[in-house]
Amino acid sequence: MLKHLVLTQVLRYMNGKDKAYTLVDTHAGAGGYSLQGRYAQKKAEYQQGIVRLWDRADLPEPVADYVALVRRFNDGGKLHQYPGSPGFAQMLLRAQDRLRLYELHPTDHRILEAYLGKHPQTQVTEGDGFAALKAELPPPSRRGVVLIDPSYEIKADYTRVVAALREALTRFADAVVIVWYPQLLTLESSQLPHRLQASAESHAPKGWLHARLSVQQPDERGFGLVGSGLFIANPPFVLHETLQAVLPFLVDVLGQYDGASFMLEQRAA
Ligand SMILES: C[S@@+](CC[C@H](N)C(=O)[O-])C[C@H]1O[C@@H](n2cnc3c(N)ncnc32)[C@H](O)[C@@H]1O
Repeated sequence: MLKHLVLTQVLRYMNGKDKAYTLVDTHAGAGGYSLQGRYAQKKAEYQQGIVRLWDRADLPEPVADYVALVRRFNDGGKLHQYPGSPGFAQMLLRAQDRLRLYELHPTDHRILEAYLGKHPQTQVTEGDGFAALKAELPPPSRRGVVLIDPSYEIKADYTRVVAALREALTRFADAVVIVWYPQLLTLESSQLPHRLQASAESHAPKGWLHARLSVQQPDERGFGLVGSGLFIANPPFVLHETLQAVLPFLVDVLGQYDGASFMLEQRAA
């Protein structure tokens, strides 16, 4: 949820200038997800996220904007489907912008291709999104956003995201790079933000921002997903203020236990 809220805010900011930009989504997924039937596992995830926000009248503006996009994805009706990052991108990118979607899994790729493959200015590629940065950066218009959103089911992803951030910034220093990561009580997960920071400190001219929303209690063995974090290199300058206003609200509404919390830090340019 936080991931798509931040993606929405970044793209709104990019839309503030007419000049075209490219969004590279290295781990695009299927594009959108049905909340009915056989996706029961995903459904449980959404119950703790979008469902809790759906009917509220007191949403802060950026959250209301995010929920309105999910409503649009459902044609204004009931909550039956949820947009993935390509779904949000499709609703927000303008005619002049380019969308580059990479997905390794053949089934997800097929669904994504059927959904967006014929869209103007959009390319859907079945392949490794990490390797794609070489071909995609720098973007022709010299304005670009990169979303790096692996599932971290394989531990190598923790190392590969750090290398990918460095590669993206080395190829195109002004790229706005958004990295999502799961907050788990593991060494890899707790070290990742520091490793990303070290990369951004030396390569991102506009600094970095790190936001984390911890909503769930770990189980008694200390396992399980506690929350998730986003690390953004070269963030829009308004993002810190926006998140500072929104994160306490999200802790209240999405928190699943008394210890729910957020963390927000940045290194300005
Ligand atoms: C967390 S999901 C992406 C969700 C999507 N970004 C969204 O916001 O809706 C991660 C996806 O990455 C795909 N994947 C895994 N390794 C990949 C790789 N090296 N390159 C591209 N896609 C990959 C998986 O099949 C999965 O669909």
